[in-house]
Amino acid sequence: MNFHTGRSQDPEKLEPTRICVIGAGYVGLTAAACFSELGHEVRCVEVDAARLAALSRGEIPIYEPGLDELVTRHASTGRLSFTDDMASAMDDVAVAMLCVGTPPRSDGEPDLRQLARAAATAATAATRDVALVVKSTVPPGTCEALELFVGGQARDGVRVRVVSNPEFLREGRAVWDFFNPDRVVVGADETDLARVVAGLYPPSWPLVECSRRSAELVKYASNTFLAVKISFANEVAALCEALGAETDKVLGGVGLDARIGGAFLNPGPGFGGSCLPKDLSGFIAVAESAGRPAEVARAAQRANDMALASLAGKIESALGTLEGRTIAVLGLAFKAGTDDTRFSPAVALVRELLLRGAHVRAHDPIARVSEAGLSQVADPYEAVHGADALVVATGWAEYRDLEPARLRHSMSGHVIMDAVGVLAMEPLRDAGFDVYGIGRGLATSFAPVLWRPLEWMLDAGQPSGVQNP
Ligand code: UDX
Ligand code: UDX
Repeated sequence: MNFHTGRSQDPEKLEPTRICVIGAGYVGLTAAACFSELGHEVRCVEVDAARLAALSRGEIPIYEPGLDELVTRHASTGRLSFTDDMASAMDDVAVAMLCVGTPPRSDGEPDLRQLARAAATAATAATRDVALVVKSTVPPGTCEALELFVGGQARDGVRVRVVSNPEFLREGRAVWDFFNPDRVVVGADETDLARVVAGLYPPSWPLVECSRRSAELVKYASNTFLAVKISFANEVAALCEALGAETDKVLGGVGLDARIGGAFLNPGPGFGGSCLPKDLSGFIAVAESAGRPAEVARAAQRANDMALASLAGKIESALGTLEGRTIAVLGLAFKAGTDDTRFSPAVALVRELLLRGAHVRAHDPIARVSEAGLSQVADPYEAVHGADALVVATGWAEYRDLEPARLRHSMSGHVIMDAVGVLAMEPLRDAGFDVYGIGRGLATSFAPVLWRPLEWMLDAGQPSGVQNP
């Protein structure tokens, strides 16, 4: 059993297929390496010269456990190669996967220009009938529109069809997720094409075959639901704080209901990353344009913005003011296990603290950001030295091992805000810290807890719903 793939080294035997993967980012590079592990011959096209040069030297430009091993192995088996030359990569290829970014525009709508350009270049270079497989997350209708867009650009006699095969992998566990999917979704409007794409995966993996629009919507709706779940957890955590209830017990108890499930119920500084925020706003834009406003999704988005603002407010309340205070922020990546800082709540928090007049010193084991006014140090104890407060903003496991006595000795203040729930609270409290968290911390308001229920019991002005015999 391989630790990163969760599978034996001898994957199910598949018909080897020559695949061109376009874009060597988190999705493309993982897909390329994993498809070569499954026995396919993969040619990966990357336009970024620095990224390509690194890959050609055998260096992995992103942090993703297990990926380096697969890339090295299949660079040497010859099943995985990298190039910037679309013509040679597309030569005699029947399946090309589009894995370029689909970032949000400033108005929240998806920017599909990279995708259109990459698809057109691939279609022009195709030397035989080809399936363009869209792995990037896109609004429903994109595959059909893309087929119309590139249709006239292929050379005579070459037919280009577009298939949706969304990728569900999580950063930091991408290799494991690829080999242990909850489902493989293939959206194609013709059965022969669906078979070709489904045939790239082992037959034992759960498969959903559907139309292209449906496949595209599976991905959007899944990420939107995850976002809703997290925002709801944050809302419950805020309520626990106000009512003096135990957040971990409440959400733990809710998650034990098999109909709900405990995953994605961890409260925190809000969800981030390159997918959830973008797909949520994409889902909202799509629903809006279809005349079916997505009220639940909108609420999740608003709640997410509020989660971050309320975190900054809580740190400010704990310190009295942020003006001139020194805050150590531990963690910059959007979540533990990745070097990705795109739409990172930790980085957003740093900006907010700087805006409110604080000096911020940050640490992250692997992520780096360049942010005016932020100093980044290589050791968590260096970050906390002389700090008025410590904020844990990304849930790296190593922060669990910070020694309370050493922290107390290094810091000049005694406020700790654990926004991601990784620290053991008691030893820190015993060392003299005031420790806050999401759903735990600042004073509970007495009135809604006892007074309002009493009023509801005794409300004399209202007729009672049930008459006693
Ligand atoms: C992916 C998906 O594509 C996106 O839809 C999903 O929602 C999030 O993840 P990701 O792999 O994270 O994107 O993107 P990124 O890391 O930006 O990688 C894209 C790569 O494609 C980059 O290396 C970029 O240089 C490359 N690229 C882009 C090309 O090779 N050709 C192009 O035409 C455009
Ligand atoms: C997500 C989807 O999970 C994946 O299926 C899709 O392909 C890409 O988008 P990823 O962006 O890697 O994956 O991160 P994920 O693990 O989903 O976390 C997203 C954000 O939600 C992070 O900021 C994380 O910290 C936050 N989160 C997650 C919570 O705040 N609470 C939780 O309980 C879970």
